[in-house]
Amino acid sequence: MNHHADSNNSAGLGRRQFLKGVGTLAGASCLPTNATAADENTPQERNVLEHPLTLTLRINGRELTREIDARTTLLDLLRENLQLTGTKKGCDHGACGACTVHVNGDRVLSCLTLAATLQEAEITTIEGVSQNDQLHPLQEAFLRCDAYQCGYCTPGQIMSGIACIGEGHADKSAEEAREWMSGNLCRCSAYPNILAAVRQTAGAEPESDPAATVKALSLAEASSQGR
Ligand code: FES
Ligand code: FES
Repeated sequence: MNHHADSNNSAGLGRRQFLKGVGTLAGASCLPTNATAADENTPQERNVLEHPLTLTLRINGRELTREIDARTTLLDLLRENLQLTGTKKGCDHGACGACTVHVNGDRVLSCLTLAATLQEAEITTIEGVSQNDQLHPLQEAFLRCDAYQCGYCTPGQIMSGIACIGEGHADKSAEEAREWMSGNLCRCSAYPNILAAVRQTAGAEPESDPAATVKALSLAEASSQGR
């Protein structure tokens, strides 16, 4: 959804300008009375990059060239510069997997990847996995298995799941699939459904209907069971 990157640019800029405006107002009372307007502007506000770098890469099949700060992570490039916000920032420290994207076909944690190292690389984000309005088979399986839950870890789970299937780790055993998906954290009850979707897409026989393991209790049932 490469159009996404550019078409949303103006909206993103508007939001940043707004936040900048809010920040300027909030800080106004702390400024020395003799400060000039020019003194108040940080290099970032003047839109001057301290460590500029021209980066060319392909994102979701489309070539893009941008001037970025050399310290920008791939995650911030996607979310802040290109408004591809499907990739989520969870921990920002490599611990949760919410930021997983593909670089040249391999899954990477975009929060730990410097964009400057990706000259000419092929990046795929969650916005790029469906084709011509046709969902990716794993996205279909997520629907079938009721694996879309919080929505925050979901894009990373799908990107990791697609790679896990491609690597051949999803169809042999549930344990192997679980092991190779373990970098993507899910703290809610959807994890069995996520694993079932990944295994089904890889062609594995589902061991059981994951939906059958989730039973909604009425209030009366729950209190009679002491929950
Ligand atoms: S945001 Fe990258 S691993 Fe958590
Ligand atoms: S689906 Fe996100 S925490 Fe479970």
